[in-house]
Amino acid sequence: MRKKIVAGNWKMNTTVSEGVALAKAVAAKSVEVPAGVGLVVAPPFTHLVPVAEALAGSKVGLSAQNCADHEKGAYTGEVAVNMLTDAGCQYTILGHSERRQYYGETDEKLVVKTKLALEAGLKVILCVGENLDEREAGKHFEVVTNQTKAVLYTLSAEEMKSIIIAYEPVWAIGTGKTATAEQAEEIHACIRKVLADKFGAEVAEDTTILYGGSCKPSNAKELFAQKDIDGGLIGGAALKADDFIQIALSF
Ligand code: PGA
Repeated sequence: MRKKIVAGNWKMNTTVSEGVALAKAVAAKSVEVPAGVGLVVAPPFTHLVPVAEALAGSKVGLSAQNCADHEKGAYTGEVAVNMLTDAGCQYTILGHSERRQYYGETDEKLVVKTKLALEAGLKVILCVGENLDEREAGKHFEVVTNQTKAVLYTLSAEEMKSIIIAYEPVWAIGTGKTATAEQAEEIHACIRKVLADKFGAEVAEDTTILYGGSCKPSNAKELFAQKDIDGGLIGGAALKADDFIQIALSF
């Protein structure tokens, strides 16, 4: 049975002390969340070590928002996968649309980063999703299929056990516009079919696929009720512990 997960992507928000306070609040409230629902927070790099301490002994996992595409060395400003595991991370987000859009993250780079992250023992939350032009041109299935294949078809079935996918329609991120439950479900089902075609039905059934894009307490229940939606990658609403936990209670 695949795992249900609610992950909070804090993006470039909170100071270290605010982040630690948020992590403590999430950890304290996480006891309300059923054992079958995993919780993860992804703070900025500077927060990882103190947030790991704040989360110690709780069920809340720790994720980075990105990692370097090299193991170590002269790459100013980058953070390597072994630094992330050493800081206490069990996960990293990769391929977030903001990284693809603003920082030139290509599928080729994501293949390299994913391999490095998996070799370091991290689980990868791989983001895919179409932008507004692509949706309006009716290309959303094609775009998401291609992004999924480009990275995941380079992996083995064994490596797929450490992959979580997040479908995040770019037009719904931070805009207040949410994909309808039907719009999200049909893409999630499509992603699962893409996985089944390469890895077989069992891997496809076992892979957690999250929805992201203006997911909040008021719409999480309807989204999570869909057959192929296994939780959420939450931006704005993850910055309030109450909202984040409320979302995790929406299964
Ligand atoms: P949002 O962001 O919930 O603020 O729309 C989601 C994301 O980008 O992960």
